Amino acid sequence: MVARVIEVEAFDLVVFGASGDLAHRKLMPALYHRFEDGQIPDEARILCTSRRDFSNEAYRDWAKAAIAEHVPSHDKERLATFLEKLSYIAIDVGSGAGFGDLAKVLKGRPDVVRAFYLAVGPDLFGPICEQLGKGGMVNEHTRVVIEKPIGKDGKSAKALNDTVGAVFKEHQIFRIDHYLGKETVQNLMALRFANALFEPLWNAAHIDHVQITVAESLGVGGRAGYYDTAGAMRDMVQNHILQLLCLVAMEPPESMDADSVRDEKLKVLKALAPIKGEDADRFTVRGQYRAGASAGGAVPGYLEELGHQDSTTETFVALKAEIANWRWAGVPFYLRTGKRLAQRVSEIVVQFRPIPHSIFSAEAGSISANRLIIRLQPDEGVQMKVMIKDPGPGGMRLREVPLDMSFAEAFKVRNPDAYERLIMDVIRGNQTLFMRRDEVDAAWSWIDPILTAWASSKEPPRGYTAGTWGPSASIALVERDGRTWAEDGL
Ligand code: BG6
Repeated sequence: MVARVIEVEAFDLVVFGASGDLAHRKLMPALYHRFEDGQIPDEARILCTSRRDFSNEAYRDWAKAAIAEHVPSHDKERLATFLEKLSYIAIDVGSGAGFGDLAKVLKGRPDVVRAFYLAVGPDLFGPICEQLGKGGMVNEHTRVVIEKPIGKDGKSAKALNDTVGAVFKEHQIFRIDHYLGKETVQNLMALRFANALFEPLWNAAHIDHVQITVAESLGVGGRAGYYDTAGAMRDMVQNHILQLLCLVAMEPPESMDADSVRDEKLKVLKALAPIKGEDADRFTVRGQYRAGASAGGAVPGYLEELGHQDSTTETFVALKAEIANWRWAGVPFYLRTGKRLAQRVSEIVVQFRPIPHSIFSAEAGSISANRLIIRLQPDEGVQMKVMIKDPGPGGMRLREVPLDMSFAEAFKVRNPDAYERLIMDVIRGNQTLFMRRDEVDAAWSWIDPILTAWASSKEPPRGYTAGTWGPSASIALVERDGRTWAEDGL
C-alpha cells in the first residue's frame, strides 16, 4: 500500500537550533522523509540557523550524518539532492548578529509560506520573536512553531505566551505536542468518530475506568540538567498525557476544524476535578528511580545520573483524575508515566463495565469485562478484549481473547514519525494537532495546585528500582478502588 501524499505549496522553513539534539534526532530525519515521499516542492527552502560557525557545506555534512544515523534506509542520491535544499546562516540570538542576513534571504520571497521553527530553549523564544518582528520578517504568511516546555507553571506560561503573542497572532502560533502527531493518537479520533460502534457506550454508564500509561525504559541520560528543573509532571503529564486524556474524553467536535477540536479539548481540561492540598496525597504518587537493571544491564539511579544527591524531582507520576461532567462523572482516569520503567510502552486502556447478569453456570468460568486497548507504541494497534466460547467439545467454557488489529501487519506502509506530519501541518496552516493558548493555560490550572501541594509536602518522592513499574504506592492507588493496572495488555 502506498501512503497518500498531500501536496504543499512552496515554503521557507527557518530552523533555529538547527545544530541541536531535536534537529538531529527528529527534524532533519522528518524533513528528509517528507522529501523522499515527494512532499517537499522544488521551490521549498530550508534555512538552518544556530550559533555555530558552519559553512553551508559543513552544515550539510552535519545534517547528512544525522539523517544517516536516524534513517538507515536512506537513498544516497536522494539524500544528496535533499541536502542541497539546506542552507546555513549563523545567528547569535544574544547579540542579534546574523538576523540581518536572514532578513535578506527571506526578503525576496514575501509571498511564500514562511515558518520559523524554534527548536531552542524557551528563554530564547522572546528574543528571537522580537528580532523577527523588528527585522520585518513577520507577515501574514508567517508561522512560528514552539516546543514545550511552555512555562514551568501557569504564570510563566502566560509570560511566555505573551512574549510570543506580542509578535505573532494566535493563528500563527503552532505549539507542538508531538504526541498529537503520533499515528495512533490520530487513530483514536478515527476510532471514536468514524465508527458508530463505540460512541453510544463511551460514557459513565458503560465505562468503568480509563488507564493511560506512558512508560519509558530509558533514564534521563544526558538530559538530566533540563529534566531536573521539570520532572515527569511538567515533562509528560501537563502536555502529552493530558492531551491523550482530552482525546479520549472530549465530546464529538463539530468537525476536524482546528477550533472545533480544540474547543472540545478545552472543555475537558476545564472539567478536571481539582486536586489540592491534602488530596494530592490520596490521588497522586510521585517516584524517583534508584539503581537497578534495565534491558538486561545494571543502570544507575537518577541521583547518580544527576551527579548530586539532593534532588526531589519526580521521574514517575501516577494520578487518579476525575472529569466532573455528565459523561464522565464517577469514572476514574488513572494516569501514569515514568522513566526507567520495566518496558517502553504507551497505551490507553478503556475498561468497560461487567455484564449486568450472567446466564452461564459457574463451570463456564469467570467473565472478564470488555477492554479496549489503544497501543500508541511500540507495535501500534488496537485490541478489543472479548469473551468467547472456548473452541471444541467440552461444554460451554468461556475464555477472553483479543480481537487484534496490529497496524504494522494490516498496512504495509512505513509508520511516519509524528514530526513529519506536524511540520507539514505547519506549512499547510492546519492547527488541529497543535495546542491553543487557552488549552495550555487550562492544563496548568489543573497541574499547578498539585505541584504546590508537592512542594509543601515533607515527603520526598518514593524510590523505585529501575526496571520495575514504579513505586508500590502507584499499585495501591488503583487497588484501593478494587482495580488493577492492566498489565496483561502491555
Ligand atoms: C518528550 C519528553 O516530550 O517526550 C521526553 O521531553 C520523553 O522526556 C519523550 O522521553 C517521549 O517521547 P516518545 O515519542 O519517545 O514517546
